[in-house]
Amino acid sequence: MSSVKPTILVTGGAGYIGSHAVLALKRAAYGVVVLDNLVYGHRDLVEQVLQVDLIVGDINDRPLLDELFAKYDIAAVMHFSAYAYVGESVTTPDKYYRNNVVATLTLLEAMQAASIDKFVFSSTCATYGVPKTVPIPEDHPQSPINPYGATKLMVERILADFDVAYGFKSVCFRYFNAAGADPTGLLGEDHDPETHLIPLVLQTALGKRQSVSIFGTDYDTPDGTCIRDYIHVTDLANAHILGVEYLLQGGDSTIFNLGNGNGFSVREIIDTAKQVTGREIKVVESDRRAGDPPALVGSGEKARKILGWNPQYPEIDKIISHAWNWHQKRHG
Ligand SMILES: NC(=O)c1ccc[n+]([C@@H]2O[C@H](COP(=O)([O-])OP(=O)(O)OC[C@H]3O[C@@H](n4cnc5c(N)ncnc54)[C@H](O)[C@@H]3O)[C@@H](O)[C@H]2O)c1
Repeated sequence: MSSVKPTILVTGGAGYIGSHAVLALKRAAYGVVVLDNLVYGHRDLVEQVLQVDLIVGDINDRPLLDELFAKYDIAAVMHFSAYAYVGESVTTPDKYYRNNVVATLTLLEAMQAASIDKFVFSSTCATYGVPKTVPIPEDHPQSPINPYGATKLMVERILADFDVAYGFKSVCFRYFNAAGADPTGLLGEDHDPETHLIPLVLQTALGKRQSVSIFGTDYDTPDGTCIRDYIHVTDLANAHILGVEYLLQGGDSTIFNLGNGNGFSVREIIDTAKQVTGREIKVVESDRRAGDPPALVGSGEKARKILGWNPQYPEIDKIISHAWNWHQKRHG
C-alpha cells in the first residue's frame, strides 16, 4: 500500500507566500513542482532551501504547460503567480490584466486539456474595495477600486463560470495582509520593490532605510492611521493545505477570507516593531494615499468552520518577531 501523497503544482512558488506553501506541502508529505518565471521570485529559496523541482517559465506559455502536465502527474494547482503592486496596476493596467487574467486563463485551459480540475487561487481583500462593514464577511459586495483588485475579481468570476460549464472545482482564498516569516527562519518576505508595511518598518530598524512613511494620520480610526488585518504567512500556507485537501476529497467550489478578524493601526505596528527589535524607527508623517480604506479587517469564521482552519500565530508581536528574525538573517 502506497502512502505517497499527490503532487501539487505551485505557480509563483519562488515568491513570498508560494514558497511558504511549498514548505507546508513538503512538511505534509505532498509531492511539489514549482513553476515560476523568477520575475520576482528567488531561485535559491526553491532550489537550495526547499529542494523541490523548479520549472523556470511563464504560466502564459501553453507549450511549456502542456509539457509539464505530461511529465508530472499533477492532482491540483495552487496558483500564487501574479503581479501584486496596487500602484503599478493603476499606471499600467494592461500589464496586470495580461499577467493576472489572460495568463491565468492560459493556465486554466492547459489544466482542462490535461483533465486537472482542482485549483486553489490567491485572491485578495482588494476585491471588496472600500468595505461597508468590518469585519468583512465573504458575501460582502465586491467593488474593487484599482485594476489589481479587478483582475483578481475577474479570475474569481472565470472560476465560477468554469465550474458551471466544466465542473472545474476551485477554492478562492481572499487574503488580508500577509505578514511574518517561517518560524524556523528558513523563509521570509523578500520583495523588490517592497511596499508592505512590516518589512519596510524592519528595513528601517536595520538601517537599510532612513525612515518609514505613515500615509495619513487623520483617518476616522482611534489613532488616525489606517487599520489592517495581518495574517501570518504560515497560517496562510496551512490554510492552503486544508483547501487542497478539501478539493481532493471532492469539495465544491467555494471562497474563504483568510484574516484574523483583528486589526492593527500603522502606529501600533511601528510601536510593536520598536519593542520587538529594540531599535529606534524614524517615522515621517505624509498625506493620505488615494484609495486606502481606513480599515480592512476580515472575518475568517467560514474557513474556521468549514476547513477547520485554526491560525497558530494571530499575535502581532509574534508575526513581527518572526519577520525580524528573517530580515536580520537575509539583510542584516
Ligand atoms: N502579499 C500579500 O499580502 C497578498 C495579499 C493578497 C493577495 N496576495 C496574492 O498572493 C499571491 C502571492 O503574493 P506574494 O506576496 O507571494 O507575491 P510574490 O511577488 O512574492 O510572488 C509571486 C511570484 O509569481 C511569480 N510570477 C509572476 N508572474 C508570473 C508568470 N506569468 N509566470 C510564472 N511566474 C510568475 C513571481 O516571479 C513571484 O515569484 C499573489 O497572487 C498576490 O496577488 C498577496
